[in-house]
Amino acid sequence: MDSKEYLDIIKQTQRCQRNWDLDKTVDDQTIDFLIESGYNVATKQNLNSFKIVCLKTRKEIEKWKTVARNPDSELSYLSNDDIKSAKNNHQNPQTDANLLFLFFVNMDERTSQARRDRECGPDPSASEWRVKKHLEVGLAAQAISTAAVIKGMRSGMCGCIWSNIIKDDWVKDWKVNKHDLALMMGVGYPLHKDHTAIGNTGKHKTSFAKRPYEKIIQ
Ligand SMILES: Cc1cc2nc3c(=O)[nH]c(=O)nc-3n(C[C@H](O)[C@H](O)[C@H](O)COP(=O)(O)O)c2cc1C
Repeated sequence: MDSKEYLDIIKQTQRCQRNWDLDKTVDDQTIDFLIESGYNVATKQNLNSFKIVCLKTRKEIEKWKTVARNPDSELSYLSNDDIKSAKNNHQNPQTDANLLFLFFVNMDERTSQARRDRECGPDPSASEWRVKKHLEVGLAAQAISTAAVIKGMRSGMCGCIWSNIIKDDWVKDWKVNKHDLALMMGVGYPLHKDHTAIGNTGKHKTSFAKRPYEKIIQ
């Protein structure tokens, strides 16, 4: 792969895919490749900073996509269309994908013997741990998104999460706290070429161009 091909892949990951061809399925070997990509990013002292859950059944994805929305208390900031979508629990269609990845900060590792042995010093506070581990969740999400594009798929990230509406029994087998869900990411096959098309509704989401950036090299 040359530099241009790599940059083209990265530029695809920049976009948020909002429509999915749900007639297609992602095979288990590819799912494993995506999960391995996410877990093998660099983390400080190679600690187990986060947990990745990959949902592949329609039933689970239909359930979890309802969480990808603004809380009722914040709806007044939104456009009328977004308020309607939020009330119908469809505010972020990027999560209604062939696969839905959930990234939880792993709070257990904060006080683990491995952390104490490898980092030394007192246990970090819960808030300090969360900030640092959100950074590492970002690395994992990018790695999975890049892997997805290499496999001919697309991704759509969603940081808008109303964790209060997650039922406790949804997460009971995962040893995570529902409020530590840091990011949701849909992955799969696009339905339309235009990533901004919202499913089959005929509506489009505004697309944001990358803001100008500086290359500081000295
Ligand atoms: C960490 C992260 C969180 C995001 N959260 C949301 C979100 O909650 N809702 C949303 O509509 N888009 C979300 N996006 C998608 C971005 O807004 C989108 O990638 C960006 O605007 C550029 O792509 P576009 O062409 O799809 O607009 C998120 C992207 C990232 C990287």
